[in-house]
Amino acid sequence: MSATVVVGAQWGDEGKGKVIDYLAERADVVVRFQGGANAGHTVQVGDETYKFHLLPSGILRPEKLNVIGNGVVVDPAKLIEEVDALRGRGYEVSNLRVSDRAHVVMPYHKVIDRLEEEAKGQLKAGTTLRGIGPAYEDKVGRLGIRFVDLLEEDVLRAKLQLIVPIKQKVITALGGTETLSIEELHKQGAAWGARLKEHVVDASVLLDDQLRKGRRVLFEGAQGTHLCIDHGIYPFGTSSNCVAGAAATGGGVGPTRISTVLGVVKAYTSRVGTGPFPTELSGPLAEYIREKGKEYGTTTGRPRRVGWLDLVMLRYSVRVNGLTGLAVTRLDVLAGIPELQVCMAYKHGGQKVRDFPASMKVLAECEPVLEAFDPWEDLAGEEWRKAAKQGYKALPTELRRYVEFVSAEVGVPNDLLSVGAGREDTLDLRAKTAR
Ligand code: IMP
Repeated sequence: MSATVVVGAQWGDEGKGKVIDYLAERADVVVRFQGGANAGHTVQVGDETYKFHLLPSGILRPEKLNVIGNGVVVDPAKLIEEVDALRGRGYEVSNLRVSDRAHVVMPYHKVIDRLEEEAKGQLKAGTTLRGIGPAYEDKVGRLGIRFVDLLEEDVLRAKLQLIVPIKQKVITALGGTETLSIEELHKQGAAWGARLKEHVVDASVLLDDQLRKGRRVLFEGAQGTHLCIDHGIYPFGTSSNCVAGAAATGGGVGPTRISTVLGVVKAYTSRVGTGPFPTELSGPLAEYIREKGKEYGTTTGRPRRVGWLDLVMLRYSVRVNGLTGLAVTRLDVLAGIPELQVCMAYKHGGQKVRDFPASMKVLAECEPVLEAFDPWEDLAGEEWRKAAKQGYKALPTELRRYVEFVSAEVGVPNDLLSVGAGREDTLDLRAKTAR
């Protein structure tokens, strides 16, 4: 019985898709447990690139079960689109399971997402407009539609008869001109149910059975710790719990089942969306990192804001997730940057701040306390791959110093290092760290 949780330690886009795809080789089941189609996980296999929003990143390994847990909010239209696209590329996708308790992102959630963002002014989060917030609002408000409802046409109709007039009032009050039709939504919902029925299961029972049989289960976090509804930069983050504990509630397993929590950390920091960002860079250096790291949102295509690695953020992630290991990604992107720096703490009102503040006002006023690092040489693409194959000692000395420093500062071992997008560009240090 063994379950590993992989979470983002920053603001999402840390490279979780690649890490999951790598770890999936030795897992039996991959589970998404929160978020929805706001996520964008990129997996590269050989020369082929795949971008997933809802499908778990283990889906390219047909022999593994891939589960969308009850904690995810699922847009069925998007899910069907992803399944069809993958079928078009030769995958059967018969290894997909969706929890009957997962909530459905309805078309009106996307309309309300846009209207609420427009109404929020300075407090808008810059959402992906995928209806995530409004879908979670309805889940918590007990006005949600679950996958099980899509399979019961009479229940679906009764729910829509209650919900749709309420949503219509919200849309109109927010200045929207859209008119909702119960009939059309019912037809749409029933069609989704019919199409996805073969994938819908009680995911908690399935996972319990797998764990009892000694199968290895990998929980795939979406977004990142600092976007979490409880622990992130409220109200600029997302609407789900993105921390490791959410794997238990969002997967339907007990927390005692989880033995390992891996935090994926980009060697620098990036952010799509609004809100304070203490180590943010601007000008040619930011431009250079953005272009070299292809830092454009997988879901929205928006250019990502970039900055130095922030150890205040990382220490916080270690604590709230109980990280047992780090996976440091994108080390190749930082190569050759002469003015490399890391944020050790913040300065605020003449005081040193080591713990991430709850107040967004304070965070916006924080100045980073930076420490300089020697740059490492930029190897050509193939050379990175060769070095990864040869092992840790083949990496540039300055790079090793950087990752060892980070690991020592936050008190968590480096389990994986990534120096490129492919599966082969990964160094697995777990034997070295005795895990
Ligand atoms: P929402 O999740 O679409 O409601 O967006 C809320 C905030 O989270 C926005 O600032 C988004 O840019 C950000 N966000 C949501 N999903 C991701 C992700 O997968 N990666 C990075 N940022 C995300």
